[in-house]
Amino acid sequence: MAKYKTIILDVKDDIATLTLNRPQALNALNTQVLLEIDQAINVISANQAIKVVIVTGAGNKAFVAGADIKEMATKNAIEGQRFSELGNRTFSKLANLKQPVIAAVNGYALGGGLELALACDIRIASTNARIGQPEVGLGIIPGFGATQRLSRALGPAKAKEYILTARNVKVDEALRVGLFNKVVEPEHLLDEANQMAAQIAANAPLAVQNAKAVINEGFEINLEQGLKLEENTFGMLFATNDQKEGMGAFTEKRKAVFASR
Ligand code: CAA
Repeated sequence: MAKYKTIILDVKDDIATLTLNRPQALNALNTQVLLEIDQAINVISANQAIKVVIVTGAGNKAFVAGADIKEMATKNAIEGQRFSELGNRTFSKLANLKQPVIAAVNGYALGGGLELALACDIRIASTNARIGQPEVGLGIIPGFGATQRLSRALGPAKAKEYILTARNVKVDEALRVGLFNKVVEPEHLLDEANQMAAQIAANAPLAVQNAKAVINEGFEINLEQGLKLEENTFGMLFATNDQKEGMGAFTEKRKAVFASR
């Protein structure tokens, strides 16, 4: 098992929980954190038994308060670009993970923190969550994906409002604009995320993974190509044992047991 200094990877049954663990710095993302997230993604990706991933932050104040400003403060242009490349590579790898990823947003999700949540498939937040992209107040722009993923999530006008004003957005507004799927009291956040993860994990794994992949890819191609991709994937799943089991269980009036093949 890999040894981590800034994250915790905990696998229980078929659910993996990845906790960013630098509470003294509000879980800010420095180079080491990003490299350890990358390592954890490799471990999760290689483990077929993991069906769903939950990402959260240690402590009760922050999910992630952004990229590490103390590390960035002395970077030059080339180093700044490399840091952005590392963040984007890591978060795209998370977004492209086969297994669905739920962000359990337990407080501030600012800058790189919101960008991490945006790379997840589903976002559940606690009532004390605050989101925002404060970068233009620091003399930079978002560098771990928000100029692209926030505008895809909200449309360009709302994304520009959030990025250009750099304001903190409260949880009720984030829920209303569709950034959060659900908001719960802080003490229920991980239970809620685990319940949703278990609900997903009970379904046919290949179907779940392919549904995620087809939805993601649909954003990169036109509607006709997207529908073709849906048809091909729909057909391919008829060649799996999970389809035989899922439909067999329905006709036999019993609960399906999926072996993920
Ligand atoms: N980087 C480095 N350290 C950070 C940090 C960050 N992004 N955010 C918080 N910390 C550190 C603080 O420096 C402080 O450490 P010390 O005790 O050693 O001084 C500790 O975490 C606790 O923070 P505060 O005392 O500031 O806590 P607070 O409750 O008063 O305020 C906060 C909380 C409003 C989140 C405030 O910490 C804050 O504004 N943080 C910075 C948020 C930000 O600007 N994020 C965007 C970063 S840029 C980015 O992410 C670029 C990108 O797209 C890649």
